[in-house]
Amino acid sequence: MVLNLAESNPTRCGLQAPGVLEALALPESLVYTPDPRGLIRARKALGERLLCKPEELFLAASTSEAYGWLFKLLCDPGDAVLVPKPGYPLFDYLAGLEGVRALPYALDYRHPRGWAIDIDRLLLDAAREKAKAIVLINPNNPTGSYIRADERVRIVEACACLGMAIIADEVFLPYALEDDGAQRSFGGESACLCFTLDGLSKLLCLPQLKLAWLRLSGPEALLAEASARLEIIADAYLSAGAPAMNALPSLLPAADGFVLSLQKRMQENMAALRGLFEEEGSPYRVLRCEGGWTAVLECPRVDSDEELALGLLLHAGVLVHPGYLFEFERDGYLTISLIVPPEQFRRGAAAMRGYLDGLLSL
Ligand SMILES: Cc1ncc(COP(=O)(O)O)c(C=O)c1O
Repeated sequence: MVLNLAESNPTRCGLQAPGVLEALALPESLVYTPDPRGLIRARKALGERLLCKPEELFLAASTSEAYGWLFKLLCDPGDAVLVPKPGYPLFDYLAGLEGVRALPYALDYRHPRGWAIDIDRLLLDAAREKAKAIVLINPNNPTGSYIRADERVRIVEACACLGMAIIADEVFLPYALEDDGAQRSFGGESACLCFTLDGLSKLLCLPQLKLAWLRLSGPEALLAEASARLEIIADAYLSAGAPAMNALPSLLPAADGFVLSLQKRMQENMAALRGLFEEEGSPYRVLRCEGGWTAVLECPRVDSDEELALGLLLHAGVLVHPGYLFEFERDGYLTISLIVPPEQFRRGAAAMRGYLDGLLSL
């Protein structure tokens, strides 16, 4: 049997938010009352959680769909948006499908400080390419790095000055793994046009419900125009389903407790990984991870990432992802999902260590 340490589908990790089936069975969902921004009762409940007005919110079927809407809203074909590298391999496709260029900006790693955006280069590229938006994944997947306060100041300033928008993807925001308070939302950022994305996929581990949200903020005139235009895009799709929207008010109160229990599991898994790989003088390193669902293990480059991942699968029965899937600069990185059940995680990580040690001793 393969020990799957690449599993990031929460519905296969024994994670179950409470009260889902009951919440989906409301009679209101038998009636069709389309609203381009999403049903008001759902937006009111969200507004209470996010401390914002329902008018600042749009509902969509997923954050992936929300990206598509935003690229349509902000870009003409051929325009550029900036996306993080290493990063989740989704944005090239989402941008490409809208005829938009996804230009990578680099995150560099310094141990033990962690990941930082190469801001000078990012801002130069943004200005040269006349980028329409900067995608900030807060925290980024798979680097687990939140946008730092100093990075935020410079990016917001540049966006305001160059007329760029921020698309802040905060699906992992509450899943902090370190206690240094770096997790500050972009929701409500008012100095430039800002779209903050989140949804049920990660907040309650319910990707199958297909419900996500965008919060709009920014200078008044820009915001009014963007809201009006986004309403036309959303009205063309009307894609959020009534059962999920009607369920939202009864699902949201469980979110904080649910996040806390998953955070505990992830902390346990991270401690197990560090315990297995980071003894004094170890040739391995678990990279600093401030939040999110993914750990990154750095290994000696005895083989390409692909060969390492294939060897682990074939000879140790452990499935992990090679770093190149997330466009790491070079070989030597494997990514591991922190949401898998701890027993499976420990056994898989121990088998990995055994196999990798074997390669090093050859
Ligand atoms: C950073 C990030 N944003 C968005 C998504 C997609 O989420 P959704 O299910 O809401 O489309 C993922 C998927 O894992 C992700 O890693």
